[in-house]
Amino acid sequence: MAKLIIEGGRPLKGQISLQGAKNAALPILAASVLVPEPVRITNCPRLTDVENMAGILKALGCRVEWTEDGLLIDTGSAKSAQLPEALSASIRSSLFLLGPLLGRFGAAEAPYPGGCDIGNRPVDLHLKGLRAMGVRVDEASGRIRCLGRPKGGVEIALEYPSVGATENLIMAACGAAEDTILVNPAREPEIDDLMAFLNGAGFDLRREGSSRIRIRGGRQGHGTLHAVMPDRIEAGTYMVAAAITGGHLLLRGGRREHLSALITALREAGCRIRSEGTDLDIEGPERPRELRRLVTLPYPGFPTDMQSQVFALCTLARGTSVLEENVFEDRFRHGAELRRMGADCLIRGRAAVIRGVKSLHGATVTAHDLRGGAALALAGLRAEGITVVERAERIDRGYANFEANLRDVGAAIRREDS
Ligand code: UD1
Repeated sequence: MAKLIIEGGRPLKGQISLQGAKNAALPILAASVLVPEPVRITNCPRLTDVENMAGILKALGCRVEWTEDGLLIDTGSAKSAQLPEALSASIRSSLFLLGPLLGRFGAAEAPYPGGCDIGNRPVDLHLKGLRAMGVRVDEASGRIRCLGRPKGGVEIALEYPSVGATENLIMAACGAAEDTILVNPAREPEIDDLMAFLNGAGFDLRREGSSRIRIRGGRQGHGTLHAVMPDRIEAGTYMVAAAITGGHLLLRGGRREHLSALITALREAGCRIRSEGTDLDIEGPERPRELRRLVTLPYPGFPTDMQSQVFALCTLARGTSVLEENVFEDRFRHGAELRRMGADCLIRGRAAVIRGVKSLHGATVTAHDLRGGAALALAGLRAEGITVVERAERIDRGYANFEANLRDVGAAIRREDS
């Protein structure tokens, strides 16, 4: 376990280079199972979740090596289609392996996946889609057993544009003999990065407008080199770090077009944001303005993964903000922790009403999930006195060098492991 100890009140100033996207790297690692030749993945962030996914691949018999610029994966030696219990239960993304294992071996077995504690996270859309591809799926004694090579020749309509289900089903469809069409897929850019990886490896996937993806059947995968896209949630988190401290940061290696909804919200809060090429320059206001109504939605809507960080910002706003969480059912646990730091917020189901206060004060708080933990650290950067964020290892699931990056731009933050 780890804690972060933060002395607040210093505006952040300087540059941060962004990492590769966790949410793109994880499905790409899983997709490498479809390719029985070595693949090289550069710009791959070295995070706990990615290490766990690499550990699962090793347990399946694959060779996985960290190199100077990323990961080298050779799944040619993969023998097992059965996911290891403890590691797989620790990350929800282990579920992504069902699709590629079925595509490669026609069989897959996994425990129900773990991940962040942000409410009930069903897997029905994943399994329904696999069944529609002719796979036999049995759920018994906490395990998911799948049998049969995905058939293709079908059109699958997702009731909700789930990111994970879209990724799982396009990977399963790569192993099919005939074309598959996915209707109402998620539109998150991480899905396009996964498709770029698969296209580079010899498969053939494309979006047909914004509401369909066609996956051609009967293709064989081959070795490839892929650079993971930049992490828009990491970028967003550091943007809020600048905003909340009244600082000025230059973020390097990002993609502005992935951040539109967040940029709109941060401008409303009074930030000055400019971008040029892959640089993003953000200056925070002395005190943020309130956000009248911010609603999380699937991409291109405002991302749920940025809700808690912006929640922290709103606690210091001049007026009252309303945040509505539409993607996950229980993603406001940071609210109660922020209250310990002096925030004035009320949570009713999927809505939070946050009355801005002039200042927060340091307190001992707990990171209940990855992004909520990051939000508490951001609040600590602005709060008066010392903030201790416990269970900070949960932040490591999504940020490489979190405290080192913040220290480099002037934060007083250190880590204690126990
Ligand atoms: C991914 C991201 C996560 C992000 C989320 C939404 C990764 C590794 N994780 O998670 O960081 O917060 O997208 O942008 O990429 N649902 C069902 N049935 C299913 C699947 C999902 O009801 O079979 C529901 C979920 O409970 C949730 C909503 O759909 O309420 C969104 O989930 P989904 O888009 O699948 O998110 P993840 O892929 O788990």
